[in-house]
Amino acid sequence: MRKKILAANWKMNLSAIEAQEWLTQFKSGVSDRHPVEFRLYAPHVFIQQLSADEEMHVGAQNVHPADFGAFTGEIAIPQVKSVGAQSVLIGHSERRTYFQESDSFLKEKVDACCAHLFPFIFCCGEDLQTREMGNHLSFIQKQLETAIFQLNPQEVFLMTIAYEPIWAIGTGLTATTNQINEVHAFIRSILTKEFGENGANVSILYGGSVNEGNAQGIFSCPDVDGGLIGGASLNVFDFLELASSF
Ligand code: PGA
Repeated sequence: MRKKILAANWKMNLSAIEAQEWLTQFKSGVSDRHPVEFRLYAPHVFIQQLSADEEMHVGAQNVHPADFGAFTGEIAIPQVKSVGAQSVLIGHSERRTYFQESDSFLKEKVDACCAHLFPFIFCCGEDLQTREMGNHLSFIQKQLETAIFQLNPQEVFLMTIAYEPIWAIGTGLTATTNQINEVHAFIRSILTKEFGENGANVSILYGGSVNEGNAQGIFSCPDVDGGLIGGASLNVFDFLELASSF
């Protein structure tokens, strides 16, 4: 079953006190019976305090593929799990660009998540030049082929996909609903071909300058199962507005 998910990606923002206030205000502003699963991808240092709230799905923004070892400054899946993280973002374009994470390194992370039965959101998406040359679909296919095609049909249940065109992240430029539909339908067709029914049921989120003005149009696209939200997740009232756009 495709699940509706609205995920906040705070990136490297907010203090411990602000994070706690955000969660309190979010809980009082959202209905218990809201049909969408909400997730909070918080900086590692806030995971433990936020996941004390058992109703909130709190996730990590990054993990290292190794279980332990001499990797100063990195964090392992057993560590984030031990403080309450329920999932992780893999392959965000900021990790790919600023920290040179390659598709083959991301495959290692995906394999580590599977070994730990740890759910993950795999992010993919093209840069502006690739889009302008009309090569975006083959570019995305290659990202998926390299990092996730090794999964077995059972492991596919751990995965959510986020399509995030790099040119739309934090830029205020949003893909049109036609562009979003095209890519989401394409990703779903690849997943279905590769993994059968389990692939067809993977949730595919859109990310990239989603805001209160465009959310309703995006979330009502037939192949869009929710959103991964950066800028508009920092202010809890903006995020609540997005929650009411489903
Ligand atoms: P944005 O970020 O909403 O600020 O464009 C989305 C993301 O990076 O996940």
